[in-house]
Amino acid sequence: MFWWLSIAHAESYFPIKGSTISGEVDAVFDFMFWVSIFFFILLMGGMAYFAVKYRRKSDHDKTPYITHNHLLEFIWSFIPLVLLLIVFAWGYKVYHKSKHVPENAIEIQVIGKQWLWEFVYPQSPLAKKTVNDLYVPAGVPVVLNMTSEDVLHSFFVPSFRVKQDVIPGYRSQLWFEVPEPGTYRIFCTEYCGVSHSQMIGFVHVLPLKEYEEWLKQDSSAGKTLADLGKDLYTSKGCVACHSTDGTTKVGPSFKGIYAREHVFTDGTKLAKTTDEYIRESILSPMTKIVAGFPPAMLVYQGQITEEEIGQVIEFLKTLK
Ligand code: CUA
Repeated sequence: MFWWLSIAHAESYFPIKGSTISGEVDAVFDFMFWVSIFFFILLMGGMAYFAVKYRRKSDHDKTPYITHNHLLEFIWSFIPLVLLLIVFAWGYKVYHKSKHVPENAIEIQVIGKQWLWEFVYPQSPLAKKTVNDLYVPAGVPVVLNMTSEDVLHSFFVPSFRVKQDVIPGYRSQLWFEVPEPGTYRIFCTEYCGVSHSQMIGFVHVLPLKEYEEWLKQDSSAGKTLADLGKDLYTSKGCVACHSTDGTTKVGPSFKGIYAREHVFTDGTKLAKTTDEYIRESILSPMTKIVAGFPPAMLVYQGQITEEEIGQVIEFLKTLK
C-alpha cells in the first residue's frame, strides 16, 4: 500500500502536459521508470529470497563450487541490451522531433538578461515587446530564437517538456506547439547570479484570432507617465534588484523612496530625495552608494532616454 502511494506521489511530480510533445517525452520516461521498478523487484526480491534460502545453516557448510553458465550469462546481458537499445531509439526519435523546427513555425525573439526575459514579436506591426510574459497562439508551432545579453541562462517551460540554453554571442532555438489556450510557467534553469531564482515568467497561450488581435494592440495607449515608468521599471530590469513593497533585494526598495533620508557609504547624507538624485543614480550609479548595499548596479548611461527617466521618476513618486 505504502509502495503504491509513493508511486502515485512520484508521478504527480510531472507538471500538466502542455505541448504536443509532452506526452511523448513522458512515455519514454514512464517506460524507463516501470522497467526499473520491474527489475528492482525482480533483482532485490530474488537476492533477498536466495540470501535466506541458501544461508549458511551450520559451521560445517561448505560453499559449492559453481562454474559459469554460458546461456544464462548471454540472456542476462542480451535482455538489458535490447531494453537499452529500445530506450535509445525511442529517446532519439522524440529528441529529434523536439529539435526539428517545423517550417511553418511563428518566430518570436527572446533575449535573456540578468534577470529577466525579453520577448520581441516580429509579426507585430507595432514591434511589440514584452518582459517575462510570453504571448503565443494555440495550435500553431512557435519557434523561439534566443540569445543572451550577459551570461548563460536557460529557458525552460516544464509543462512543455522543452529546455534550451540561452547563450551570449549565439542564437539558439527552441520550438513547441500548444494545442489548448492556457498559462504556463517559465523558469531560468542555469544559475546566472543573485536574482536567478526570480528570472521567472509565464507563457500565455491565446486562441489564434485573439493572438493576432493582441499583436496589433498598442499597449501604451491611455497610459499616464507613471504607468509608462512602471512598464520601464519591469522592462529595464529595475525589478530584479529593487522591490516596490519594502522588501530588500540586491538594492534598496523603491517603496517610499521620495520620503526617505539616504546615507551613503562615504558617510554623506541626502536629507530629501530630488529628481536629480534619481537621474544621477540611474546614469551614474557608482557616484553615490547607499550604505549597506554593494556597488552592484548597472550603468544605464546610453540605455535610457531623458524622457524615460522622467517617466521612471513619476512612477517612483507614486510609491508612498
Ligand atoms: Cu537567468 Cu538563471
